[in-house]
Amino acid sequence: MASLQSNLLLLLLGAAAAAAAADETTTSVRFYMHDTMSGSSPSAMRVVQGPNSTGLGFGNGFGDVYVVDDPLTEGPAADSALVGRAQGFYAFASQRADAAAQLLCLNLVFPNGSTVAVMGHDPIYAPQRELPVVGGTGAFRLALGYVLVRTHTRNTSSGDAVSEWQLHLAANSSAQIDPSSTSTPSSGPSSRTAAPFPSFHFSLFCILILHIIK
Ligand SMILES: *[C@@H]1O[C@H](CO)[C@@H](O)[C@H](O)[C@H]1NC(C)=O
Ligand SMILES: *[C@@H]1O[C@H](CO)[C@@H](O)[C@H](O)[C@H]1NC(C)=O
Ligand SMILES: *[C@@H]1O[C@H](CO)[C@@H](O)[C@H](O)[C@H]1NC(C)=O
Ligand SMILES: *[C@@H]1O[C@H](CO)[C@@H](O)[C@H](O)[C@H]1NC(C)=O
Repeated sequence: MASLQSNLLLLLLGAAAAAAAADETTTSVRFYMHDTMSGSSPSAMRVVQGPNSTGLGFGNGFGDVYVVDDPLTEGPAADSALVGRAQGFYAFASQRADAAAQLLCLNLVFPNGSTVAVMGHDPIYAPQRELPVVGGTGAFRLALGYVLVRTHTRNTSSGDAVSEWQLHLAANSSAQIDPSSTSTPSSGPSSRTAAPFPSFHFSLFCILILHIIK
């Protein structure tokens, strides 16, 4: 009997902890990054040329470094509403042509000056890449999270690319990206708060019932 009571107590404590954990939600927002190497007004410029600049195709190779000031827009079209800019650099950091990868080191700069810092490994041909959010400023002070990046379009001869960015910030990262601050709310980037995993409490409830029956 004593053991049943202590089991119940442990389960109730576990359920309380789970309820607290479920309150930790994630804020997500999607936008598109336009990285243009070609043309008369490129947003990405090579500042260092590695010794083997044909190694990876589209005129790039291991060691190349680009500084970028890429527009971030709500949709994939070039004339879609501007949400912010990605400013920083990337370096071609893999020597394997079949596993081209960049070190990406960017600040996402929003119109009011708040920033989100992203730094990580970007294997550019992978269908989806995950990059860490390492911090932020202003509304995003102490931000923690990650970005899921997918190539939307890439011109393999010019290197110009549009990529989709899904930015996920932990609930404790105080700010949420507010599309109304940069454009009309109706056409803003999707922003949602993930619901807590719904069946978690139900499973705890089932375990509790099983213990009582036992
Ligand atoms: C240039 O890079 C390609 C792809 O990484 C590699 O296969 C080739 O051996 C490199 N050439 C030289 C001279 O390093
Ligand atoms: C890809 O880039 C090349 C070279 O800049 C250009 O001639 C071509 O029109 C581009 N293709 C598309 C679909 O934009
Ligand atoms: C959330 O952020 C505040 C500071 O803004 C900090 O004091 C608190 O410990 C954080 N909570 C978690 C769970 O990280
Ligand atoms: C600044 O812009 C960001 C992104 O849209 C937004 O989340 C934040 O609330 C704004 N306000 C401040 C004070 O930075």
